[in-house]
Amino acid sequence: MRSVKLVSGLLVLLFTASAFVQSYELPKSIARGKALYVTNCMNCHMEDGKGMEGVYPPLAKADFLKRPAKDIIETVLKGQSGEVKVNGVLYNGVMPAQDYLTDTEIADILNYVNNSWGNKNPKAITPAQVKTLRP
Ligand code: HEC
Repeated sequence: MRSVKLVSGLLVLLFTASAFVQSYELPKSIARGKALYVTNCMNCHMEDGKGMEGVYPPLAKADFLKRPAKDIIETVLKGQSGEVKVNGVLYNGVMPAQDYLTDTEIADILNYVNNSWGNKNPKAITPAQVKTLRP
C-alpha cells in the first residue's frame, strides 16, 4: 500500500515536472513568439528588428537587451518613454504599454526577440517572471 502511494506520488511529480519543462521550452517559445511579434511589435520595430533610426530603437543587436530581464519585461508591461540610448543613438519617443498581452505571450515575444536577427540568449524568459512584474 505504501509503495503504491509512493509510486503514484512519484508519477504525479514526474508529470508536473515534464509539463513545466515543456511550457518553458525555449525553441517552442521562440516559434510562438514570432507571430506575436509580427502582430504587436513589428509596426514600430520592423520585421528585421532594426527599427527606424532616431524614431523607433532597434531590437536587433540592441545593447538594451543586455540589461536584466526585468527591465526588458517591464518595457513591454509598462511601456517606455523619455530619453533612452540604444546602440549609441538617442531616442525620445513613446512606446505604449502592452499589458493586455498574457504572461506567456510576453515571454514568447521576448524569447523571440532575444534570439532573432543575430541576438542570442539561451536563458528563457518565463511567464512566471512576467507575472511577478505586473503592476
Ligand atoms: C507604437 C510603436 C511601438 C510598438 C508597437 C512597440 N514599441 Fe517598443 N519601443 C517603441 C519606442 C518609441 C521605444 C523607445 C521609447 C523611448 O524613447 O523611451 C521602444 C523601446 C523598446 C525597447 C527598449 C529599447 C530597445 O530598442 O531595446 C524594447 C526592448 C522594446 N521597445 C520592445 C518592444 C516589443 C517586444 C514590442 C511588442 C510587444 C514593442 N516594443 C512594441 C515603440 C514601439
